Amino acid sequence: MSPSKPARMPAHDVTDLALAAEGVRRIEWAEREMPVLRLIRERFAVERPLEGLRIGACLHVTTETANLVRTLAAGGAQVVLSASNPLSTKDDVAAALVAEYGIGVYARRGEDRDVYYAHLNAVADTHPQLTMDDGCDLVSLIHQERPAQVAEIMAGTEETTTGVIRLKAMAADGALRFPVIAVNEALTKHLFDNRYGTGQSTVDGILRATNILLAGRNVAIAGYGWVGRGIASRMSGMGAHVAVIEVDPVRALEALMDGFQVMTVGQAATWGELFITATGNVNVFRREHFAAMRDGAIMANSGHFDAELDLPALREMAEGHVRVVRDNVEEFDLGRKKLNLVAEGRLVNLGAAEGHPAAVMDMSFANQALSAEYVARHHAELEPKVYGVPDAIDAEVARLKLAALGIVLDDMTAEQKAYVTEWKHGT
Ligand SMILES: NC(=O)c1ccc[n+]([C@@H]2O[C@H](COP(=O)([O-])OP(=O)(O)OC[C@H]3O[C@@H](n4cnc5c(N)ncnc54)[C@H](O)[C@@H]3O)[C@@H](O)[C@H]2O)c1
Repeated sequence: MSPSKPARMPAHDVTDLALAAEGVRRIEWAEREMPVLRLIRERFAVERPLEGLRIGACLHVTTETANLVRTLAAGGAQVVLSASNPLSTKDDVAAALVAEYGIGVYARRGEDRDVYYAHLNAVADTHPQLTMDDGCDLVSLIHQERPAQVAEIMAGTEETTTGVIRLKAMAADGALRFPVIAVNEALTKHLFDNRYGTGQSTVDGILRATNILLAGRNVAIAGYGWVGRGIASRMSGMGAHVAVIEVDPVRALEALMDGFQVMTVGQAATWGELFITATGNVNVFRREHFAAMRDGAIMANSGHFDAELDLPALREMAEGHVRVVRDNVEEFDLGRKKLNLVAEGRLVNLGAAEGHPAAVMDMSFANQALSAEYVARHHAELEPKVYGVPDAIDAEVARLKLAALGIVLDDMTAEQKAYVTEWKHGT
């Protein structure tokens, strides 16, 4: 269903409102792949569980996020949105949300750090009662610079691993002052979004930017968490030779038994032709590793922040000899060799492609929408700590997704139910 034009344009800062029509077409295309969110939106439109709730969202401004925002608005919320990364904004989507759906959006693709924070502050200025973060920047800003607003906030939700890690650190420090639901912890989020969504879209971003052949190429992947596992399996499926770099012995063993080589970052530096980071950590590849890499090596990052490659060191080594060689690819001339960096070292799947496919964001954002409803109903019972998504929501998202895909499951027979709860029988 196409939007009906808003009566009044909300306050906003986007690149070009003339892109709105293209944005609507792409938002509607994504919607077709998001049946769970659509069902929730239809119910929200009737029940209005978020009536009057002010939601401040700091999320990647993509077609999928647009469908989440529409769902929240259908539930009665007043949503204002800023970007959660300077490079992930799709300008047509930002324009469509403002001009066609009446949502206040503050996001311009390629904005600098000052504009990024001005946009975040514009969202905070609307005095949200619920924060919705992807990376914890809004929660962090409010806690550090706007402590008086904390009392106005019922709770927050957090989308990604890095954000959850930051929140848990805040809670451990006694610094977290309102409850936050860690949407990333839902099984129907990280098992699918982080693994299959990032796996596929990371390959997509690297290919759109570089158009390289993956078959037969040495690809070193740092981090074998949910994201790293997804990238490794997809790269391997494309015929690449995959090596994993890990610091956790269990994850390293898992990578080995999944059929990949395991190397130190130093060993990988000379072996690899394509390097991808997905650790959520800083400076995984550093000066000595850049020095050891072969001519023409390509680097990309799929972790949340652009801190996984030591880019200041790389820039220093290139002594200003940096040029854009293709859209989203910078070449660093180190004298005896040239190294390439995709999407400025920011999340490559969002910087150089469109992020996760909508079918997977359907589940992540269903968790967001249902968590917002949960906060609206239960905020009085919550304490200032990090909560998982309630199991009932996780199960409901899986049930709705299977139903939407037309997949029916068996029930255990009465005999089987009795068998699995009986402890007396043996061999
Ligand atoms: N690009 C995207 O769209 C997207 C989607 C989901 C998550 N993320 C981000 O990706 C990152 C990883 O997420 P995840 O869910 O896989 O996390 P995770 O915690 O499951 O995995 C991270 C892995 O990195 C390993 N690691 C940490 N430091 C390391 C180092 N110095 N060298 C090698 N390995 C190291 C850890 O041992 C762990 O196994 C986070 O920053 C997360 O926010 C990005």
